[in-house]
Amino acid sequence: MKTIVLEKDEALRRAADQISGLMKEKPDSVIAMAAGRTMLELWAHLEPDCFSRAVCFQVSEFAGAPEDRRLRRMMEEHLLPATGLNAERCFWLNAESWENCEAELQAAGGIDLAVLGIGTNGHIGFNEPAAPFASRTRIQKLTDKTRKQYVWLFDRESDVPEKAYTMGIRTLTEARQIMVIATGEEKSEAVFQMLYGRNDSTVPAAFLQVPANVTVYADLEAGHRL
Ligand code: GLP
Repeated sequence: MKTIVLEKDEALRRAADQISGLMKEKPDSVIAMAAGRTMLELWAHLEPDCFSRAVCFQVSEFAGAPEDRRLRRMMEEHLLPATGLNAERCFWLNAESWENCEAELQAAGGIDLAVLGIGTNGHIGFNEPAAPFASRTRIQKLTDKTRKQYVWLFDRESDVPEKAYTMGIRTLTEARQIMVIATGEEKSEAVFQMLYGRNDSTVPAAFLQVPANVTVYADLEAGHRL
């Protein structure tokens, strides 16, 4: 894993530069995109229109969330306008679609770049601790810790859905390039475990020690234990 630890703005800018570089090389790249607070900040750093020819797959989504609380809505409101991504080239995870995700990914030629955040418990996508390396897109029960992480989006913990759709660890680790972006002190332990923990599924992000092309962008707070 390549690790880049910088001031937050600079870390986000470097991550955005990697994305722009790929889009210049291959404008019709297949991107697997996470969503959340870190991603909102990253998207603000992306070059306008950089995804105008891209294909985008959602990495994860809450199951049974009202439409206005879905990660899809966040992407429609913030990612699409910022990057020129075409809604018709987006694959959204939901009750009807999730079982087709792997076949659609294969038909699209696989993931060129997976852009991931990390949970405070070391989850990637919504692959919670104990998710097996061989996992693929599925429905995952969320841990209490993850549901707490999302109170900001749903107001009350009891409103945070109990389950989510997520690409699996195998799905994500098959991407040709992977980047993980982490900011803030509350991610520092998860970042440390991702790099140095045992890759035995206790910390799902530690499975990213296996694929070759992984870059971690951390700000000074998230990276301070490294
Ligand atoms: C979960 C979500 C990801 C998100 C990550 C970090 O893993 N499935 O999409 O990137 O949490 O979320 P945040 O940036 O809001 O802390």
